[in-house]
Amino acid sequence: MNENIMDVAPADLVSGDRVAGRLYTDPAIFELEMTRIFERTWVWVAHESEIAKPGSFKSTRVGRQPVIVTRDRRNAIHTLLNRCRHRGASLCEKPQGQANGFTCPYHAWSYSLDGKLRGIPYPDGYEGVADKRDLSLKKLRTESYGGMVFATFGENIEPLEDFLGDVRLWIDRFMKQGGGYPIKVLGKHRFRFKGNWKIQLENTTDGYHFPIVHRSWMASVDAETADMMSFMTDPEAITHDLGHGHSVMQMVPEHSDLDDDDGSEPLQARFAGLVDELSKTLDAAQVRKVVRAMHGTGFNLNLFPNVSMSIAFFRVLRPIAVDETEIEHIALGPDGPPELDPVNRERLRIHEHFQGPFGFGTPDDAEGWDRVQRGAQGAPEMPIMVNRGLAREKASPEGWPTSHVTDETGMRAAYQQWKRMMSDD
Ligand code: FES
Ligand SMILES: [Fe+2]
Repeated sequence: MNENIMDVAPADLVSGDRVAGRLYTDPAIFELEMTRIFERTWVWVAHESEIAKPGSFKSTRVGRQPVIVTRDRRNAIHTLLNRCRHRGASLCEKPQGQANGFTCPYHAWSYSLDGKLRGIPYPDGYEGVADKRDLSLKKLRTESYGGMVFATFGENIEPLEDFLGDVRLWIDRFMKQGGGYPIKVLGKHRFRFKGNWKIQLENTTDGYHFPIVHRSWMASVDAETADMMSFMTDPEAITHDLGHGHSVMQMVPEHSDLDDDDGSEPLQARFAGLVDELSKTLDAAQVRKVVRAMHGTGFNLNLFPNVSMSIAFFRVLRPIAVDETEIEHIALGPDGPPELDPVNRERLRIHEHFQGPFGFGTPDDAEGWDRVQRGAQGAPEMPIMVNRGLAREKASPEGWPTSHVTDETGMRAAYQQWKRMMSDD
């Protein structure tokens, strides 16, 4: 890094194992990220269970652009720009719901669930000057994998499955925590922190902070649970770089594939009451499957740029400004018969205990993220280090660059992708 840090091209601010602090503080870099990254790659927009029925919709954003994700009458999923073709009003301000279509509140132009312009009030003024067929809502390419829905403004980028690549195996594994049932969204909450979005991207693949920042959480749970999460000195606990900026951090490797169960691991004592309740209606093998999956899959799968599938929940980030980010934590559980209700109640309690606003985990994380942003205002030329474990990184049998779970392999993967996308005009 040279002395005139503000003259260095953004892509050159990332070397293999360090990035300049300016990456968190420069509004011009943030603007460039919105177009070069968030408008050119696949961005997570929904889980299919959030738009389960024909007519279901969800409003969200791709980068900073507002969109509506819809399911039409034929079950096809669309991502529509939330912007009326008349004079640009937003069509929908509800976070989610059911609709037959969208009518703009300003002059009542109305659109169908797939974005076609259906009606214009007092249409005689438009005779000879506008054709409804040319005035559909702007539509983004939308593709799903394993129930995860992604959208992109990038007309010519690779199909979603190619972008995900080796991540698909891990999505398949993540979805096994339904214990034989599909996964559904149980609830979500949002908060903002005063820091750059990449601070969050790094955190989800940062095993190093866990016993330090989450000491109070470790002290608040039973010994068996605390022991399960004491992966710092476990050589089996590893992080893989999966390509395209994605990575997976395995904190509890024996729970990476929940179908891998030789029956020798006892169910955790804290779930004894739940086991009794479920045993009234389910057979022993079913009970074992759903209870063993109670705390999720034992890994954090970090997908560049905006979603992670973390143990038992989704963490979605939305960049607001160079120094402000919104986070959504989405609790998940099996989508099964009413006999599974006690499972989902308990899963929500576990979620609240760590992720909730009064939980023991996330508020401690948020303090760390705020501090990174405040500290990085000082000496924007000084590097942020992401070099932990570089010398002990090796290829896994699958060929994935791999290091210990406390190493910064996942961050290096994300910054390599960042650099690639930011150097591409
Ligand atoms: S801005 Fe939407 S109908 Fe006029
Ligand atoms: Fe954390």
